[in-house]
Parts: sequence; structure tokens; C-alpha cells
Amino acid sequence: MNYRKFGALHLGIGRRPFLRVASGATLGASMSRGFLLGCASSSSNIAEPFDATTPWWLQGNFAPVYDEVAATDLEVHGAIPSALDGRYVRNGSNPASGESAHWFFGDGMLHSVELRGGRATAYRNRWVETGQLTGGTVPGNVPGGGNNASNVSAIHHAGKLLTSGEVGLPFEIDANDLSTVGVYDFGGKLTQSFTAHPKIDPATGYLHSFGYWFFGEDLLLYHVTDEAGALVSTQRIEVGQSSMMHSFAITEEDVVFWEAPVLFDLEAAVAGDPVPFVWDPGYGARIGVMPLGGPTESIRWVEVDPFYVFHEVNAYRDGDDVIVDVCWHPDMFNGSDLVGGTGESALKRWRINTAGEQLSYAEELIATNPFELPSHDRRFSGRKHRHGWFVATRDDPQTIDFAGIGHVDYRTGAISEWDPGRTRHAGEAFFVPESSGEAEGWLLTFVYDHASRRSVLAILEAENVAAGPIAEVALPQRVPYGFHGVWIPS
Ligand SMILES: [Fe+2]
Repeated sequence: MNYRKFGALHLGIGRRPFLRVASGATLGASMSRGFLLGCASSSSNIAEPFDATTPWWLQGNFAPVYDEVAATDLEVHGAIPSALDGRYVRNGSNPASGESAHWFFGDGMLHSVELRGGRATAYRNRWVETGQLTGGTVPGNVPGGGNNASNVSAIHHAGKLLTSGEVGLPFEIDANDLSTVGVYDFGGKLTQSFTAHPKIDPATGYLHSFGYWFFGEDLLLYHVTDEAGALVSTQRIEVGQSSMMHSFAITEEDVVFWEAPVLFDLEAAVAGDPVPFVWDPGYGARIGVMPLGGPTESIRWVEVDPFYVFHEVNAYRDGDDVIVDVCWHPDMFNGSDLVGGTGESALKRWRINTAGEQLSYAEELIATNPFELPSHDRRFSGRKHRHGWFVATRDDPQTIDFAGIGHVDYRTGAISEWDPGRTRHAGEAFFVPESSGEAEGWLLTFVYDHASRRSVLAILEAENVAAGPIAEVALPQRVPYGFHGVWIPS
């Protein structure tokens, strides 16, 4: 198994873009340092030592933690806004055995911090008790049902906290103590997979989702769940082959899928390849638009040049056009790069015109910053947005070196970034609203300092990320790099 070939399954960050971040050539950023816990390490300007004999996903802050810890009354530096009243929960890959075939296959572990009255009242971390964890399932088997890692995202909808691993069924979690309630199949209505990136329509509270599968007739299913959590519709979408679809988008009127040529390879799966996907640009690529809610038969596709996109920032309608802002990659799983594609990644804007009988397509380059793990103000999901937030990376050919938090103002084109200092590394930033205007609120993200081997929860003002955190919460143990989180208001 050539793990290097598939290194960017989730993040899709190519090597070359790291170089541009390292040079700072395109940042145009205000590079202020975090003024709080980072001060202790700010004099250190060295990269984290790398052990070439150990896979990158099992060392540094990718390495798992083994203790499930509960702590209260955490030390706070700075001032936590009292309006932050709830719990931040983030999922990630944390192999209980200490071994895994790749970063993406470790057992799901949740980390949560509870904020209340200007205090950080509790921290907790727990594994998601999946079939893979409790049953000792061998990674590499075709996952499905409850046999999956459930390690990609945390979803809060209709009063339930769910985790998803993209392939297989979600798990329901008790948000109070992160204990696993069990496999969640929406009362038996969900039978295959559930994307880690469902979308809540802010107008209706409906949860739109999909799942892809590897063989059979239902290679791609679109689901609608009502505001009370009942799965009310499942419809098949016809596609030629099973491809890796990590996310999708909605507008007020539309659902947008993108089918990129990262195809499921049955032969590789049978041979035991834990990531049986291949880059096959000959398959082509296309973007599909259909009415929100369906029917899926009315989906229309437009052919585009081959690409790969894991994550969109957001999408919206602009007259006859559907706009999708994406973290774009020219390819994926193509060759032997340690962490992904072979070309230069970018932030792009897709514009799909829906007026004629045939869709037409144009794209705009927003920035060459290799930002990934995007987030937006979810009150504007499917609506015109101005702001996007991202995780930046530094150049390191041996591993993924996360840096600070980037911000793109899609109205002015301005790009800014919080540089946390050389030894510190941020994860995905989740936006929590304060008042009604877009971006009026805070970003929450776990930040790891490789000099001290400690982690904090950092809180930033979303409208001024370059200023760095307004508060940091010291955590009782290291929080490994993870994927996606969610805020659950009290
Ligand atoms: Fe993702």
C-alpha cells in the first residue's frame, strides 16, 4: 500500500501551496501574534521535529491521546464573552490502538469545551463508540452501517448531536458527557451513508444531506430531514460511477453537487487498499444543479475541467446564476505527493448560469492562498455571504503544518490572517454568532503549541482575526489535530 499516494484524502492540501504560505508572498496580512498563552513560546522559531521512521499521522500533534479526561473550571487567559453560552464539540481521528493505515482511519474522538458566564466550565474528550472501536474491525474492510470510524464531523440538528465519518451511518452522541447513544439511522430510514457535511437551511431548519456508496444502484442518494429531525425524503441521483463526494452545497432554491474524477476502485478495494480511490481525469468532471428538495430527476449537469473540491465555503443564488465559493484543487490522489494533489490549489468562485436549457459555467480566481477547512456564518448558509474563514498552512514536505486562521472578505477581496507564531497550529475555526449581522460573532478553534506540547481553545473576533485571540482556555491535555466541529448553544 502506498500511503503517500493518498495523503490528502480529507484536507487536500498540496505541497506547492505550502511554499507560497511560507514565503508570505500572497498573504497581504497583518501578522500580529497571539498575545496570550503563545507568548511563552514566541521566542522559539523552530519547526516541530519530525521522525522520518514514523508515519506523519502518528507523530507530533497528529498522534492520538489515550485518556478520556473530564475537567472543570479551566484556566482562562483574556476575557471570554459572556454571550458565549454553550459547548464547542470537535471530531477527529484518534486510533485507540495507536496504529492506523492513515490519518483518516483512526477512531473518532470528540473533544468539547463548555463556556458559561465568561468562564470555561468544563472540558471533556471521548471516543465515539463505533463498531470499528468496540468490535476491533480491521481497517480496510468495506465499512458500512455502524462499522465506520465516525471521525470527520459533529452535526447538531433537531436537538440531536450526531457524528459522521462520511461512509456508513452516523452516531448519536449525548452532548452533556459525549457518551455514545448508538448508531443513528433516522428510524431505519437511512440505510447507506451520510455525508459529514449536511446543510441546514436557515429558513426552514430542514437538514439536506446525501450519501455515496460503492456499488449497486444507489451510488448517490439525496436526503431531506425536516426541522423536527424526521427523514422525510430519499431520492436517487443517477451518476456513472461511484466517486468520492465529500461535500455539496445548497442555496435558497437549489442543491449543488460536484462530481470529480476521484473514482472508487473495486480492484484496489478487493486487494485491501484502505483508500481504494483513483484519480481518473478521463472520466471528466461536472457540476449538477437541481431544485432544493428535488426532484432529483430534474438535476442538470455542466461539464467542467477535471478538478477536486473537498469543501465549499458557501453557495447562493444571484439571479439566474448559482454561485459556489470553493477550496479548489487541480487534482487529488494523483501521484505520490505526501499530502495530496500535484498542482496549485486556490480559492475559486464557480458561477453556474441556469437560465438556458443547458447550464453554462464560468469560474473566477479569488486567491491563491492555500486555505482549507473553510467556515462561514451558518445563518447565511445558501444566502449571499461576504465572509469566509479558513485554516492556513506552512510549507513542510514531510507533514501537514497547520498555521493560523485566514479570512477572506468576498466583497472587497481583502485577505487577512492571524499568525499564531511558529510553534503554534490552529484547526478549523467554527463561527458562533453574537448579533444579527454576518460575521458579528466569534471563532472557536483548538490551537496546539509544539513547544509546550499543550493545547488551548482560542476565541477570536470573527471580524478581526488578524488581531489574534481575545481569550484562550488552557486544556488539561493535548488535543490532536482533527477535522470538523460544531457549537451547541445552551
Ligand atoms: Fe470535511
